[in-house]
Amino acid sequence: MPTSAARKQYDADAFESEFETDVVDGLTRADKQLSPKYFYDEQGSRFFDQICELDEYYPYKTELRLLPLVARDLSRILKDDYSVIEFGAGSLLKIRPILDWLRGVRQFLPIDISGEHLRDACASLAVDYAHIDIRPVEGDFTQEVELGKTVGKRLGFFPGSTIGNFTPQQARDFLATAKQTLGRDSYIIIGVDTKKSTQILHRAYNDAAGITAKFNLNILHRINRELSGNIPVERFEHYAHYDTQAGCIKMHLVSLDKQQCRVAGEDIHFAKGESIHTESSYKYRPDEFIALAASAGWDCEKEWLAEGELFSMFLFKSE
Ligand code: AVJ
Repeated sequence: MPTSAARKQYDADAFESEFETDVVDGLTRADKQLSPKYFYDEQGSRFFDQICELDEYYPYKTELRLLPLVARDLSRILKDDYSVIEFGAGSLLKIRPILDWLRGVRQFLPIDISGEHLRDACASLAVDYAHIDIRPVEGDFTQEVELGKTVGKRLGFFPGSTIGNFTPQQARDFLATAKQTLGRDSYIIIGVDTKKSTQILHRAYNDAAGITAKFNLNILHRINRELSGNIPVERFEHYAHYDTQAGCIKMHLVSLDKQQCRVAGEDIHFAKGESIHTESSYKYRPDEFIALAASAGWDCEKEWLAEGELFSMFLFKSE
């Protein structure tokens, strides 16, 4: 069960009105955009789980295969008692090898924006890890989160290359905030997608079954559902490409017609071919990411590279 401190800091009403403000704001500007954090309503979380099962989507499976090795190595480095804090928790499968190998874990605090998904995932985790105090924290990890009192040292866990959704500047800010949240003498484990062949990247974000397209388009359905919108979703198409200079995948929703609709009482106009930028997914060479983390006050203790250098993980220590 969440502590009252953990429960108090999440305000569902505030989140709803933030969603409305962000969406109206994002759809009425010249360069239309929506934040990828809004992909993950119940339906969106389900689509994301389906993406993770696709052959083309290598990040999830590659990281999952790397994790037992990482966890075993960590058990030789991290010998104290820890509270593990997961940023943007999802289905809580990736923490399992860590909990299996790190005998000193006393508490686990997964932070996630999707409360229902999170509570379900915590319930399944609790079945197998009865000795660990599991406290779901429903909240937005892109902002500073108040964790209340925890046991032992704090160990952050941020897998899945979720950090890729930030621009490098935002990633640095996040790492600096995470350092504040975790405090002195803490560690953080981060999973980061690597730069690689554009063909592999292109396939991963343009899967043959069209699940990524559904995941992307779902954000428009969500807006219609939650903000009394009438966006004609079937008149938009998914577009994803890799920008080699920026080192990131950019996802868009492209309007197939000149059209207008309403969202939360506001008129929204689209020109034919105009697009909404819905996600950036930055990729880093290991040396680039280590330098970025260092600029936010984190020293690299260990680095792991998956087969074919498809994916990387890092252990950082707060200096
Ligand atoms: C969850 C942000 C890591 O960028 O690969 C998957 C989200 N978007 N397919 C990614 C995503 C399209 C994913 N992250």
